[in-house]
Amino acid sequence: RLLIIDFGSQVTQLIARRLRELNVYCEIHPYQNVTDAFLKDFAPKAIIFSGGPDSVTRDGSPRPPATAFSMGVPILGICYGQQVMMQELGGLVESGHGTAEFGRAYVTPAEEQLPLLEGWFSDGREQVWMSHGDHVSRIAPGFQVYGTSPGAPFAITADPARNFYAVQFHPEVHHTPRGAKLYENFVKLAGFTGDWTMASYREEAIRKIREQVGDKRVICGLSGGVDSSVAAVLIHEAIGDQLTCVFVDHGLLRLNEAEEVVTMFRDNYNIPLIHADEADLFIGALEGVSDPEVKRKTIGRLFIDVFQKYANQIEGAEFLAQGTLYPDVIESVSFSGGPSVTIKSHHNVGGLPEKMGLKLVEPLRELFKDEVRALGRELGLPEKFIGRHPFPGPGLAIRCPGEITREKLDILRLADAVYIDQIRKHGLYDEIWQAFVAILPVRTVGVMGDGRTYDFACALRAVTSVDGMTADYYPFTHEFLGETATRIINEVKGINRVTYDITSKPPGTIEWE
Ligand code: XMP
Repeated sequence: RLLIIDFGSQVTQLIARRLRELNVYCEIHPYQNVTDAFLKDFAPKAIIFSGGPDSVTRDGSPRPPATAFSMGVPILGICYGQQVMMQELGGLVESGHGTAEFGRAYVTPAEEQLPLLEGWFSDGREQVWMSHGDHVSRIAPGFQVYGTSPGAPFAITADPARNFYAVQFHPEVHHTPRGAKLYENFVKLAGFTGDWTMASYREEAIRKIREQVGDKRVICGLSGGVDSSVAAVLIHEAIGDQLTCVFVDHGLLRLNEAEEVVTMFRDNYNIPLIHADEADLFIGALEGVSDPEVKRKTIGRLFIDVFQKYANQIEGAEFLAQGTLYPDVIESVSFSGGPSVTIKSHHNVGGLPEKMGLKLVEPLRELFKDEVRALGRELGLPEKFIGRHPFPGPGLAIRCPGEITREKLDILRLADAVYIDQIRKHGLYDEIWQAFVAILPVRTVGVMGDGRTYDFACALRAVTSVDGMTADYYPFTHEFLGETATRIINEVKGINRVTYDITSKPPGTIEWE
């Protein structure tokens, strides 16, 4: 097995996922837990050092145990992992102005050949994703340079004799398009054969759910999105009638969404479903709130209150099931007490109240969206469930930066419906990973007919992504954007200006809050 030492990168789980795709078994452990004794006991066949938010130039920043370097196993260091490796082995890392790089870069090969890079450079250079503030300014003895980028002269270095490899960029993210090849070469070098799959994940998940729940009853929060639908169907397969689903309408759904979801689920499944109309409760608590984390935490708490209310009506209901995914976990809290920083509190993780009467069942907690879709197909879910764009639990609340008001929500719902209709009419829905409108907390002056308007501005967002961890804006044509802006302004009273958000993730996030 392979050990990933987590130094707190937002994308550490993507490394695990790349390895699952190669059918290699691996485990992620936070660096604090990886002691000499741990390493000896774990006996990894190879080690990967993840990236992380800290700076190796800071005293007391995270380090791997020195034993890692004397075990005689291949090591791959990524970003912070690269820097910590250089520092520990006698190189030099510095912070400084002008060396930070975020986003797309191109690496070109040095003259020397390296087995790790076999078949990698397709075109004399390779696109990679950088996200670093510090940089290596002197490589460690024994190391050589095998690839450079304009901002990182030591983009790829290695000491092949010891099987140590270090890269400044993130080969695990989708925006390093051929990064998987590096992992493939690395596990090959480490002697892995690859014999791990999604069918075995399904069986293992069912076994764990039965073991956790026993003969108790489970309430499952259903949103109509792919995650909670897959969780519900998987749990139903595990425990049958012990499961009841609750669909909470919090008044932050899109136009006609509640009816559509309930009908879609009842038409396809014979799982008991409660339709809870709680709009007044949620909107009442949110009106006037503008801080994103307060919004998220309020929604998380109210969701639990509502689930608890329904659980109280079901004899023996002790568990709450949610379709929490890994990206929800990593952006909200530190994974397994791990070292990453909180970006936003996803409603079903960081938004949960500290004390809760229900125990959680979260069978998808280690998976990414597209892996959940693959599991959904494995479970036979209809394509119309699987192909829906993601929609966040806190709904329109986090697409309404600034104060939430009923008026803004109503305007937003209409604008979003026009936008999605445009996307469907142009046959783009399946090409786009997620699309929505955000209503901005500014009013701008316009002229319509011969009159003056003073209405809200909105932003259109559409991204391509594979897993929600990194994303790029969708390159609509100018015709499409123009036509959509005209339609929104003509059809939606209350909006007189439309902008298109062209930020990638990172540095942006997909949602505005
Ligand atoms: P961000 O905005 O963090 O979003 O780039 C990544 C993906 O996660 C969704 N998202 C959420 N999903 N509860 C959810 O169920 C949440 O609190 C939440 N916040 C963001 C977001 O829509 C995108 O697909």
